Amino acid sequence: MKSVVRLFVCTAQKDEIGKDVARALKVEVKKQGLKSLFSGGDKHKIRVQTCNCLDLCKHCKKGPGAALVVYPEGPVYGDVKPRDAADIVQHLSEGKPVKRLLLD
Ligand code: FES
Repeated sequence: MKSVVRLFVCTAQKDEIGKDVARALKVEVKKQGLKSLFSGGDKHKIRVQTCNCLDLCKHCKKGPGAALVVYPEGPVYGDVKPRDAADIVQHLSEGKPVKRLLLD
């Protein structure tokens, strides 16, 4: 069975940053040809989804960007801006997190 890697992007901010991040991630997934991903011999589909508050608000409401979670294996990112989308999608293919965006 094909599993799914989901990128949940918080869109509960007052501005549109979360929606902009989600849009940029979708564009980047397409651009990098990563609708599917092979990892550990398994094939995964990649989905970018918006969601409500992830309880990481200081990285949404007080920071300049949005919080997002890569599900199911992590990582958790904060203060993500649309310009970070390329690095985040590249991390999915390489399995290396984007250190500058990582939350504890
Ligand atoms: S508003 Fe984004 S995590 Fe709470």
